[in-house]
Amino acid sequence: MTPEQSLSQLMEQSQSRCVKALERWLPAQDNPPTRLHRAMRYAALNGGKRIRPFLVYRCGEALGASLESLDGPACAVELIHTYSLIHDDLPTMDNDELRRGIPTCHKAFDEATAILAGDSLQALAFHVLSRDKATQVSPDVQVEMIGILAMACGSRGMAGGQALDLQAIGKQLNVAELEYLHIHKTGALIRASAMMGALASPESDPDQVRKLDRYAKCIGLAFQIRDDILDIAGNAERLGKTLGKDRVQDKPTYPSVIGLRAAKHKALELRDEAITSLDRLDARADPLRWLADYVVRRTH
Ligand code: IPE
Ligand code: IPE
Ligand code: MG
Ligand code: MG
Ligand code: MG
Repeated sequence: MTPEQSLSQLMEQSQSRCVKALERWLPAQDNPPTRLHRAMRYAALNGGKRIRPFLVYRCGEALGASLESLDGPACAVELIHTYSLIHDDLPTMDNDELRRGIPTCHKAFDEATAILAGDSLQALAFHVLSRDKATQVSPDVQVEMIGILAMACGSRGMAGGQALDLQAIGKQLNVAELEYLHIHKTGALIRASAMMGALASPESDPDQVRKLDRYAKCIGLAFQIRDDILDIAGNAERLGKTLGKDRVQDKPTYPSVIGLRAAKHKALELRDEAITSLDRLDARADPLRWLADYVVRRTH
């Protein structure tokens, strides 16, 4: 099998594990309040690449964790990601009508329901982390994971990055400011995914955890650079989102600040740095090496 084939097989595996875990933890849609529960399920279960769960599984496996013990953290980070997308699409934020090829949550339901669905998915993520029985870690490590996810999604992580993103509309940012924004709005959850995977594993020593963190920091930034590139040069149908939104909304992006060619080059540099960070990890880290390349070449 080529690395691409192995990667796509592993991506399918983590997608299906993640969907099963989401199915298990999301409230049934006929449970009241049914409209809210239907909105949560609508946003969480309709597609998505499940890159963050992939990172939880592959970082955990690279250090010897079992897949079962990683289902909880994988599901938790995807719940937070789904909530972030619902809120990101709201009229007061990016005002998007299409997500993963179908109407955004507030279009399919209504704004208030979408806001509450996001809130509820966020709470559910922490419920999962605190209750999942298959995550075989000590209580100390469990609390550490909860802390990592909380930090990554709050004002010093994703939500903080989103605030900076909105403040930046119509402004000129320099590269350092843009990098700071991207590392927070997108990088923080990607890093948390890697860290939770590493923490769930029996072999995690501080040096390896640091290497995985550096890896995840690089691919987190590369992931958002690629997202910015796809917004101007991608295929709308394949992406399942409306193209050209960043320009219309006058958002600073890597292509707008340093140009398309330089943005692509920067993403490739980050891929190489990510792969170098894994230098002393064995072949169990190969899927992470393949993922670094996928992140900068992906078309959706
Ligand atoms: C989109 O994330 C939003 C960003 C943080 C760039 P993904 O590209 O991971 O979206 P899905 O989950 O696959 O739809
Ligand atoms: C999204 O960034 C970041 C988060 C959802 C936290 P974008 O606004 O660029 O993502 P898309 O392009 O709408 O998916
Ligand atoms: Mg946004
Ligand atoms: Mg958006
Ligand atoms: Mg975007």
